Amino acid sequence: MKPAFVFGTRPEIIKLAPVIRAFIERSVEPLLIHTGQHYDYEMSAVFLEELELPPIDYHLEVGSGSQAEQTGKAMINIERVLMKEKPDVTLVQGDTNTVLAGALAAVKLKIPVAHVEAGLRSFDRTMPEEINRILADHASEVLFAPTEEAGKNLEREGITEGVYVVGNTIVDAVLQNAEVAERKSDVLGRFDLKPKKYILITAHRAENTDSRENLTKLVEILEALPMRAIYPMHPRTKNRLKEFGLWERINSIENLTITKPLGYLDFLKLEKSAFAIMTDSGGIQEESIILNVPCLTLRYNTERPETVKAGGNILVGLEKERVLRYLNKLLEDEEFYLKMANAPNPFGDGKAGERIAEILLELHKKGELKVRSSRFI
Ligand code: UD1
Ligand code: UDP
Repeated sequence: MKPAFVFGTRPEIIKLAPVIRAFIERSVEPLLIHTGQHYDYEMSAVFLEELELPPIDYHLEVGSGSQAEQTGKAMINIERVLMKEKPDVTLVQGDTNTVLAGALAAVKLKIPVAHVEAGLRSFDRTMPEEINRILADHASEVLFAPTEEAGKNLEREGITEGVYVVGNTIVDAVLQNAEVAERKSDVLGRFDLKPKKYILITAHRAENTDSRENLTKLVEILEALPMRAIYPMHPRTKNRLKEFGLWERINSIENLTITKPLGYLDFLKLEKSAFAIMTDSGGIQEESIILNVPCLTLRYNTERPETVKAGGNILVGLEKERVLRYLNKLLEDEEFYLKMANAPNPFGDGKAGERIAEILLELHKKGELKVRSSRFI
């Protein structure tokens, strides 16, 4: 069997690594196609190295651009590779432009698509990610939903065939790397941070960074934080802060350390040792609950509602008063802190990657890994 993996951004590399590993352990050689949506060393190559992935077979060097430019260029380049390599299945993960491009290019060549982390919905169609998820799910033959709730979202849209609830591969990634991070990372010393005495911040989503008004609100929140904080910053956010004239202002916040994005081992260590995490990232909302760290999400909705229901995550948007109210409660009310920190992980047991490989191998063996003419027969 020949599985092709199409990926291009930081979270896709992290979340597909356990699946790639599972295939290799079963003596199946994966074909690795990197679109180049992320290209800086610290947004891509550092993860390929740390997660010890085999060499990339095709680097497509798509790079940055408008939504259509990036997606279109990725589609054209992916199609070329798929036509030449004729894989048995194309795996994509998540909701980026790379995912949409990979799914569309493959299904139109009648190569079945397997979507890892299928069925997530924020129910906010103004987000590029929501459009990508919906379309990728509808182009897919095999849908690996991380939770029952994600499976139900698919059912609501008429997708019932080929759906498997397997857990989220982020649990595999955390379990496979947390102990290594503990041993190898000296990140706390490098930034002079004390365990549980700082807040870890990340924010990069278009809705938070592309408007001057929202980015200013983010800076105002950071200016009001009641304790030390560290913010490994996505290049998108840095560019926008400079563009909107906010770069000097954010850098003059006394309690805040801004750094370039960090590798996975350093970042896991920072997450695990944080007092709390504030983020708009999908993957980091998941990792917080896995690592027992309270999470305040800088968004008004989430496609990870399981984390909120479990009690480990609170949506605070960009509302300064709301952020401060919850941070102060976390600082002053130990019972509240422990309740958030000990919220149960809804994303499975860390064997999602193995399940995905097993299911695809079995479908292939039975000759069932193909594009069906209709989902409804
Ligand atoms: C993309 C995903 C988002 C995901 C994020 C993961 C889409 C629509 N969005 O957002 O869902 O959460 O990846 O991190 O696919 N840039 C660099 N160096 C890089 C990569 C990007 O400088 O290596 C800068 C460029 O100025 C670029 C901007 O960041 O224009 C945005 O990059 P892009 O890949 O378009 O989207 P992300 O914000 O990374
Ligand atoms: N991450 C990292 N270094 C950083 C920031 C994030 O290794 O400086 C990891 C994080 O642990 C998580 C993933 O990147 O696994 C999340 O990626 P991101 O926030 O870019 O994307 P999203 O999950 O929102 O799509």
